Amino acid sequence: MSSKPKVYITRKVPVEGVRLLAEHCEVTHWDREDAVPRVELLKNVSGMDALFCLLTEKVDAEVLNAAGPQLKCVATMSVGYDHIDLAECKKRGISVGFTPDVLTNAVAELTMALLLATSRRLKEGMNAVIQGKWGTWNPIWLLGSGLDGATVGVVGLGRIGFEVVKRLHPFGVAKVLYSDVEPKSYAKDVNAEYATLDDLLKTSDFVLGCCALTKENMGLFNKDAFSKMKNTAIFVNTSRGGLVNQDDLYAALSTNQIAGAGLDVTNPEPLPTDSPLLKLENCIVLPHIASATIKSRSAMSELTGQNILACLNGKKMPAQVVV
Ligand code: DGY
Repeated sequence: MSSKPKVYITRKVPVEGVRLLAEHCEVTHWDREDAVPRVELLKNVSGMDALFCLLTEKVDAEVLNAAGPQLKCVATMSVGYDHIDLAECKKRGISVGFTPDVLTNAVAELTMALLLATSRRLKEGMNAVIQGKWGTWNPIWLLGSGLDGATVGVVGLGRIGFEVVKRLHPFGVAKVLYSDVEPKSYAKDVNAEYATLDDLLKTSDFVLGCCALTKENMGLFNKDAFSKMKNTAIFVNTSRGGLVNQDDLYAALSTNQIAGAGLDVTNPEPLPTDSPLLKLENCIVLPHIASATIKSRSAMSELTGQNILACLNGKKMPAQVVV
């Protein structure tokens, strides 16, 4: 019988992390592109020393119980860990790993892409070309707001928010505001001014959701928040769908309470194809691809493998969640 530690990997992932683990561990792998069904997960996690999971797996007491008391670590191949019950992990002395930093640039880049695509009305333009609605060059057609001279409000000036702000300045934005649980000393490095959420919502031309999802900010972007925003404002979210009340967002977009939205994340995911949001010309929805660069996803896989190996060797993980 193998004396190697046992690891369960819940999805087909870039090879880097799998290779690393396969050198030192006995790996069981749901090596498929679809998410592992809950029953499979509960069955296969049994007896494992480590779980390599994704944001699609809810890791709660049921999963931890199914794994058994020998489980030492849960490592998610994501920077977000709102799908993991940290209190349950803490109670059992299970270390939790995540993948910060290695995806920051990719997510910041896609946030910029959504800002540009929404403010310059790319969805409407592309649809018009496909639908034969492109007439002669028209000086008053598809006019967008653009970033030049805009005030941008970033909700959450963490790693990703910070990198987004760096990318905003070359586009000539007039001002960057940010709100967070507390003012950040490093905000001055990117010329971002602290504002209350209310002030940020009222004065920004663009409002960006860049914070981690917590119990406290669930549904933060709701009717009340959208009603405070300018009618010309654009809302972009590359964080988690749970930050947004989607019914309220639909109402705000369809009544021109706000001008547009760009979402890389929704609740639920995938967003059902009959979601009214998909019918709106002023709403761009992407399938949660902000970190989807080859470089970033490879590094996320590798870091998840490194987190697991460190933990199994009794060391602190290179990227460990403080629980
Ligand atoms: C994360 O890592 O949490 C992103 O949402 C997906 O890469």
